[in-house]
Amino acid sequence: MTSSQPIGIFDSGIGGTSVWKEIIQLLPYENTYYLADSKNAPYGQKSKEEIIALSEKNTEWLLNQNCKIIVVACNTATTNAIVHLRAKYDIPFVGIEPAIKPAALQSKTKTIGILATKGTLSSDLFHKTTQLYSDGIDVIEQVGEGLVTLIEKGEIHSKEMEHLLSKYLKPMLLKNIDFLVLGCTHYPYLIPQITKILPKHITIIDSGEAVAKQTQNILGHKNLLQLDRTRLGVHKLHTNSQLEILKQFVKPSETIMVTYMDF
Ligand code: SIN
Repeated sequence: MTSSQPIGIFDSGIGGTSVWKEIIQLLPYENTYYLADSKNAPYGQKSKEEIIALSEKNTEWLLNQNCKIIVVACNTATTNAIVHLRAKYDIPFVGIEPAIKPAALQSKTKTIGILATKGTLSSDLFHKTTQLYSDGIDVIEQVGEGLVTLIEKGEIHSKEMEHLLSKYLKPMLLKNIDFLVLGCTHYPYLIPQITKILPKHITIIDSGEAVAKQTQNILGHKNLLQLDRTRLGVHKLHTNSQLEILKQFVKPSETIMVTYMDF
């Protein structure tokens, strides 16, 4: 393994680009590959076996591009498949878990909300993490059914999105949450809509920045951080569904290539 190899990132679709953006901001000299498996989104409604099979397919594609580390930028794939991926492949994996710990530590009302997919909320890994950090805290879980599908269709500003968000968030308000944890990498793109529904004293928290720092730490410990600081990294993002939608979230440039590819 050498420091000039790229970082690989995958998600069930375009949501993980919220994590990718944090990574390239923190590590501007790294080259990256990003796979948006939008054709198979949402993963959150699939069985554990299906999520593992799709995660393996994405991992193998990234390994063929010679990636030095793989970031699983999808909560559902992390909670259901990362243990399996770590056992099967000899490469470091960074996973993404809902930011329950910082929310629980800072909550004054001792009540926090979490919005995530069914696949994440029903996983063993999610239950273990929640149990570990939420002693004395009431965790209000809400499945964000339909949100990923609307985001993947580019319908962030639709009436349907507004309706779903208020249906999911308003009951949490009645329970007096002071933190809302976004447990899906697609959801940071909904923050402008969410802030219209939630009062200002509720803090919205996601895991993108923490994952970028974790990626930096692992690469640093393994002496795999890019040494060439004379040029910015080159980024290749691929979607197996609608290219125009990915381009709404990631603007192509001289160093950012966004293309359709059937994988
Ligand atoms: C999904 O594909 O259902 C959402 C991905 C995630 O959990 O981050």
